[in-house]
Amino acid sequence: MKSFYNAEQISPNVWWVGVVDWSVRNFHGYLTNRGTTYNAFLIIDEKITLIDTVKSGFEAEMLERIATVIPPEKIDYIVSNHAEPDHSGALANVIAAVKPEKVFASAVGAKTLQAYYGIETEVVGSSLSLGAGSLAFVDTKMLHWPDSMMSFYDRDGVLFSQDAFGMHLAHSKLWADEIDENIRDYEMTKYYANIINNYSMKVTALLDAFPGLNLDVKIIAPDHGPLYRKDFGRVFEMYRNLAAQKPACRATVVFATMWHSTEKLARAFADGVRAAGVEVNIIDLAVSERSEVMTAVAQSGLIAFGAPTMNNQVFPAMADVLTYVKGLKPQHKLGFAFGSCGWSGEGAKFIAAELEAMKFELPCPMLQARYMPTEAELKTAFESGNTLAAMLKEKTK
Ligand code: FEO
Repeated sequence: MKSFYNAEQISPNVWWVGVVDWSVRNFHGYLTNRGTTYNAFLIIDEKITLIDTVKSGFEAEMLERIATVIPPEKIDYIVSNHAEPDHSGALANVIAAVKPEKVFASAVGAKTLQAYYGIETEVVGSSLSLGAGSLAFVDTKMLHWPDSMMSFYDRDGVLFSQDAFGMHLAHSKLWADEIDENIRDYEMTKYYANIINNYSMKVTALLDAFPGLNLDVKIIAPDHGPLYRKDFGRVFEMYRNLAAQKPACRATVVFATMWHSTEKLARAFADGVRAAGVEVNIIDLAVSERSEVMTAVAQSGLIAFGAPTMNNQVFPAMADVLTYVKGLKPQHKLGFAFGSCGWSGEGAKFIAAELEAMKFELPCPMLQARYMPTEAELKTAFESGNTLAAMLKEKTK
């Protein structure tokens, strides 16, 4: 039965044929509390071409949207810009339904699609003629997977940028300029912090090289979230700033607690930051998760991490978060390690070692209270927050 899913035309010869996933809340551990989209695009040229597919389970919706433009079996080419399963999960079923003449991917993409699904693909060169227009391919290896590439359709000036410039945001509007800017800025920052942050040097290199590619871009079409038809300078500038990881004059305190001892230190530290006139937020790991922490890390120049010791180890929720944050390689941060323990005290030491390994600046000594923080220890927490906030103000002047 037809469900009335339609394609949406984005330029004279290109249609959006993706899906909006309003329900997803966990994207491999990233909390997607506004859902997401898996964008796919149909180019109508002499060779009818599908750019990317969608997550497994959504292929029927995508094929219905395509069918409002052309019968899906008329598709000649499929181009896979990125082999991660949110864009390739439906590929095998789509190939079976469409029987395209060729499927294209980057050299690494071809190996990855073979390994995931046993799909045979042709490796792209620098460009591919579709008839009246051509696709040019931009190698974006490790942005954010080794197979990643972008495609540019010269006839309509559409840059299919796969994950880059994307965000997890389900919306009924397709264009960024139709969506609240504050929501977009937050979701783009969150996406960057959690997916791309560790490849920031490559982002900067790509932005530097971009003008030299001489692409007359009229539309930027990422694989997640809204598309851009204007204000490209703002989008590029935002990515350049995110990649630079310039410290912001804002602080975050992340803590786990068992019997409120570490929590007391967290609150005292935060009040010291507040007393110095610096904005601070507190994240309790009992009610928060790692992608929220990483977003706050990206938005803060000072981050304090605190946890108790349990069974001669750091409290597990903190180990999870630090492992995640470490992999995303935040730069230029002031830090502080603290915690509480009964006897052995491995918790705060583990945090301090992890922050050192991440090259956080740690001007104040680690603080660890036994059982319940004393008044003197709470004062030390307050003063540490106050001192580090004053340093952050100087650093970000
Ligand atoms: Fe949206 Fe890296 O997949």
